Amino acid sequence: MDTPHTPVLLKEVIDSFKDIKSGYFVDCTLGYAGHSKAILEEFNYIKHIGIDRDSEALNFSKKRLEEFKDRTTFYKGTFASILPTLKESPIVGILADFGVSSLQLDKKDRGFSFDSNNLDMRMDTTAPLNAYDVVNSYSRERLEYILNHYGEVRLYKKVASAIINARAKEPIKSARELSTIISKVVPRGGKIHPATLAFQGIRIEVNSELAEIENLLDSLEKKAKNGELKGAIVSLITFHSLEDRLVKNRYKKWIKSCICDPHAIRCNCGKNHELGKMLVRKPITASKDELKINARSRSAKLRTFIFKS
Ligand SMILES: C[S@@+](CC[C@H](N)C(=O)[O-])C[C@H]1O[C@@H](n2cnc3c(N)ncnc32)[C@H](O)[C@@H]1O
Repeated sequence: MDTPHTPVLLKEVIDSFKDIKSGYFVDCTLGYAGHSKAILEEFNYIKHIGIDRDSEALNFSKKRLEEFKDRTTFYKGTFASILPTLKESPIVGILADFGVSSLQLDKKDRGFSFDSNNLDMRMDTTAPLNAYDVVNSYSRERLEYILNHYGEVRLYKKVASAIINARAKEPIKSARELSTIISKVVPRGGKIHPATLAFQGIRIEVNSELAEIENLLDSLEKKAKNGELKGAIVSLITFHSLEDRLVKNRYKKWIKSCICDPHAIRCNCGKNHELGKMLVRKPITASKDELKINARSRSAKLRTFIFKS
């Protein structure tokens, strides 16, 4: 079966789960099931749960994983809303490969690419907010915030002004128009398209991507504290510094044994609050061989955490 997406860090992901116990494995970002299929093959004793907010991806993966139908269950929705409701137990492995799939990026009618004829960028095409709404109705302050904080666009004020001036004449209807407007004010830097970061910021806003990650981490923390993730392994793949910072800082919190106020004279918390340990301190990145064949792997970082038994 031809797949529209090549999974990143596949060998490294499988390796991170090598000590997985029997129980349920949750793929929070099923996509085109590249990781899930390999996990189902490698660990034939686990049951699998696949979550995605994109129906197109979910329908593809249901077919792709047909041979494992006795071991898999699918849920459509956001991982932050579904994970807390899962009744399946025990959960022994959790994977998330954040961001958009190659198909979402490449398929013009999804509105993510610079030359799309529409302005959409929703991972879930039934969600209420799309990029057209953000670009054409957000206030200057909110646009500046998104471009600055979610896109880390250096010239965020100029880009917001360019958008506001253009839409005052007529609504910006396509990603192609938007990328042209942005390209006029952001200088081209090497091979990267000048609208890349602004598009990233808008896409993060449309899909609440950072809030989704925070809520996923909250939900894992809550489950771990309730004793629902004993010995479970969590592997999270991020694609930019905003995502990676959320994961890194949360893992750092989880390994702390002392939760006393940092100004307290002596520890009185019992010093046994660590939830587990990180598999490796530094994130795992793509090998030279993978970098040659999959451009998406360039910015991928894998961080793994093991909850205590
Ligand atoms: C990078 S792709 C995953 C690719 C997958 N690992 C594979 O091997 O085919 C990310 C997928 O996660 C989905 N996704 C992103 N954020 C999500 C969220 N908050 N809830 C559910 N699905 C999400 C996207 O729709 C997309 O299909």
